[in-house]
Amino acid sequence: MSSTIVQTLIEKTQNFSIEETLAFLANQYKDKVVFSTSFGQEDQVITALIATSDLPINIFTLDTGRLFQETYDVFHKTKKKYKTRIKVYFPEASAVENLLNEKGPNSFYESVDNRKECCFIRKVAPLTKALKGNSVWITGLRAEQSENRNDLHLFEYDSKFEIIKFNPLLKWTLKEVEDYLEKNNVPQNALHKQGFVSIGCAPCTRAISEGEDIRAGRWWWESSHKECGLHGK
Ligand code: ADX
Ligand code: SF4
Repeated sequence: MSSTIVQTLIEKTQNFSIEETLAFLANQYKDKVVFSTSFGQEDQVITALIATSDLPINIFTLDTGRLFQETYDVFHKTKKKYKTRIKVYFPEASAVENLLNEKGPNSFYESVDNRKECCFIRKVAPLTKALKGNSVWITGLRAEQSENRNDLHLFEYDSKFEIIKFNPLLKWTLKEVEDYLEKNNVPQNALHKQGFVSIGCAPCTRAISEGEDIRAGRWWWESSHKECGLHGK
């Protein structure tokens, strides 16, 4: 059933621009289309597209409580510039308190299990809440970001969160993303100019050197999949 819906969406929108596809989804699924932003470069392109279109697509962010000040700065600027509502989902206070009481504030460096536990409390659980009752989840995933993301599709059914996922920038290159942001004067995270490409929580993200993998700066002390549970693994 879900694969038929995805196939139909692919066929119906195959000749559409991103703007046209967003309008089609907003019309088809009414107020059940949501976009998750981490204020990264890709997400800023999508925010600009949604905010300037006046479509009824709800934008939300997962504030893990451990983000960079630069991320809060771009959040603030974006909210002001586009006068748009960005709904914030915060982790359960009691879950964070228990984690810190039991394992301390930096347990994520000690094992992959600990790291996934923190990602679950601060990201996955709030995301589950944010997606509940919605039909379409728009993300800023790009195929170029990692091997894991190379086999993604423009539309897919996410069985973990039971929702249709739309990845409009899947085939965009980093250069295309950067050009769009410059041309449209979209606020950007100041960390991008300091060698940060993929930006997550402050203690778990570092800058990368030229030639390094785009996601090499995320959970850099681990040799595992470099995913936190929001997307797939
Ligand atoms: S992650 O899984 O490694 O954290 P990444 O930072 O590459 O994800 O971002 C990919 C997409 O996931 C973003 O385009 C955005 O849609 C969503 N996303 C990631 N982090 C957040 C966040 N903190 N709040 C909302 N959406 C997020
Ligand atoms: Fe916790 Fe790091 Fe995951 Fe953020 S990225 S939720 S700080 S383990």
